[in-house]
Amino acid sequence: MTETVAFPQNRTCPYAPPTAYEKLRGDGPLSRVSLYDGRSVWAVTGHALARRLLADSRLSTNRENEAFPVTSERFATIGRRTVALLGVDDPEHNVQRRMLIPGFGLKRIAGLRPVIQRAVDQQLDILIEQGPPAELVSAFALPVPSMVICALLGVPYADHEFFEEQSRALLRGPSAEDTERARELLDDYMGALVDERIAAAGGDGLLDELIARQRAEGALDRTELASLGLLLLIAGHETTANMLSLGVFTLLQHPEHLAELRADPSLTPAAVEELMRFLSVADGMVRVALEDIEVDRGTTIRADDGVVFATSLINRDADAFVSPEDLDWHRSARHHIGFGYGVHQCLGQNLARAEMEIALRSLLVRLPELRLTVPADQVPFKPGDTLQGMVELPVAW
Ligand code: HEM
Repeated sequence: MTETVAFPQNRTCPYAPPTAYEKLRGDGPLSRVSLYDGRSVWAVTGHALARRLLADSRLSTNRENEAFPVTSERFATIGRRTVALLGVDDPEHNVQRRMLIPGFGLKRIAGLRPVIQRAVDQQLDILIEQGPPAELVSAFALPVPSMVICALLGVPYADHEFFEEQSRALLRGPSAEDTERARELLDDYMGALVDERIAAAGGDGLLDELIARQRAEGALDRTELASLGLLLLIAGHETTANMLSLGVFTLLQHPEHLAELRADPSLTPAAVEELMRFLSVADGMVRVALEDIEVDRGTTIRADDGVVFATSLINRDADAFVSPEDLDWHRSARHHIGFGYGVHQCLGQNLARAEMEIALRSLLVRLPELRLTVPADQVPFKPGDTLQGMVELPVAW
């Protein structure tokens, strides 16, 4: 009997799937992997099957389900707590999602572009004024999305050190106690903020809009509002920050692609899409089966079985992308699943695309000689059981 592959695993190269996942590729679109606690779950690695299963309502994201897989010891205590929207199945999910759609539509995001550009310009001004060297995660990749999500939600940016540090602890521990404590602090913070905004009445952030709707329609209670606010705050800054830090690192490791992008900035939207595919920063979506699902004749995912989606392999499936290991600004990468797929597909994707496009375009123009100050293999990156990205990015220009 061959040993099952452990999931998730650390990457060897920060922008490539863990080398130990290679075996899974050979096994076809669905195989078995083992979690940290020894539990065996299904791993989806094929693109067509991933889209089929992510669109299947028999797979649930409800973390309160006893059978929902926990992928890391750090999440063992908080892993089963309620998460708004992302952890809710339809039809309830649809009710929450519909309330948020106007806040994330293309028109609203187009209106946010000047806010994004200002945040980008401000951070680049500071970097240039202070001069090289600099650490690009704390000086650029993190503050830009943080400022933008604060502006969208109506959360005071003055609190950014607190919520960035606690989000980091929530997602990366190091221990289960840290994770648990961070979740409590963030819950308290968002609860207090919601109370404050309810009392103040009349702000113009998305949080205020949700509160006004709650008054008019009684759609959500205070706990649900706080839970949604927290999800948006965390999802809104951590994810994009990782894409920016890992995106810049990847560009610096691919000088020809970087030169092509500098020479023709109109390629930036396509480059953002290709980087989304190539980097797969959210590498491992998780579901639990509510009923038996026949995948093909002879293979059935049984009720209560856990299912993980190995995004980095799915986005490099040769049946879906030509020469998937190559970075290519000219391919059509839009069908990647870097933002997920199905009803839970990323609500903030238009915002994330706008942020990445503006941030990368401006960074490359204003820091034309950007380079790493240490060898690439010494730049620390994040472990496999969290969002993928750089811990630090020491640069000069
Ligand atoms: C490049 C940055 C981003 C990446 C890679 C990303 C990735 C993802 C992925 C993979 C999912 C689906 C998870 C699943 O199905 O289990 C998701 C959902 C979600 N994302 Fe993003 N995201 C990004 C930026 C954002 C931003 C800026 C926001 C803004 C608040 C956001 C808000 C959300 C929300 C609310 C959901 C849950 C949607 C639902 O359950 O209906 N994301 N994201």
